[in-house]
Amino acid sequence: MRVKLVAGNWKMNGSLASSQALLKAILPPLAALDRAHYAVCPPFPYLAAVGQALRGSKVQLGAQDLSQFDDGAYTGAVSGAMLAECGCRHVIVGHSERRTVFGETDEIVAAKYAQALKHGLSPILCVGEVLGERESGVTETVVARQLDAVTARCGTQALSRGVVAYEPVWAIGTGKTASPEQAQAVHAFIRGRVGAADRRTAEALLILYGGSVKAGNAAQLFAMPDVDGGLIGGASLVADEFVAICRAAQSAQETVRT
Ligand code: 13P
Repeated sequence: MRVKLVAGNWKMNGSLASSQALLKAILPPLAALDRAHYAVCPPFPYLAAVGQALRGSKVQLGAQDLSQFDDGAYTGAVSGAMLAECGCRHVIVGHSERRTVFGETDEIVAAKYAQALKHGLSPILCVGEVLGERESGVTETVVARQLDAVTARCGTQALSRGVVAYEPVWAIGTGKTASPEQAQAVHAFIRGRVGAADRRTAEALLILYGGSVKAGNAAQLFAMPDVDGGLIGGASLVADEFVAICRAAQSAQETVRT
């Protein structure tokens, strides 16, 4: 049985003080939720402090990116080994903002995925189409290309050591959420494509949805059979919203069990 995961991607927001205030607000209510898994992905400079604050809680630590290189003369880059040392369990790889703003190609994303695995991190591989691609009916082609770049490099079974996040770019930070049916259709496509190569990996694979998930729509999204949780941007910075989304995952998980 797959256990739902809700991960907050704080992106480049906040301060050390606001991070601590956010944790102070979310950790007590999250302590009461025992069915699903929860994670936060703060900016690099806050990882150590956030990791410290998470000690003794079940909330996991994640980073937003890592270098495709091991170590050496790569100014500004952060390696998988460093993230592991900071206590990270997850690392987001191939977020659409990294792909579009920072020019990361499918090959770079695949190299980052490999680095994450090498250092014992669980990569959260983001895939998703831009609006024009959806409108021209190539969503599946785009998602397949992004997924295949990773499986070509690391093998299909490598997906069992990470998580996939379907994040339609047109839904990120726009307030336009994919409908539960739209999300389910792409999630089912992803599971089917992985399953054609390796059925067991596909059945165990967590596929998160990301893109304007809020307290008000999380329950409907998480009720979909192939939606295994969420990667939350803006709403993960608002304590009440994030806690409500985590509660929705807990309730959805309880429904799966019973
Ligand atoms: P929003 O939830 O702000 O749309 O961001 C989604 C996202 O990009 C998470 O990685």
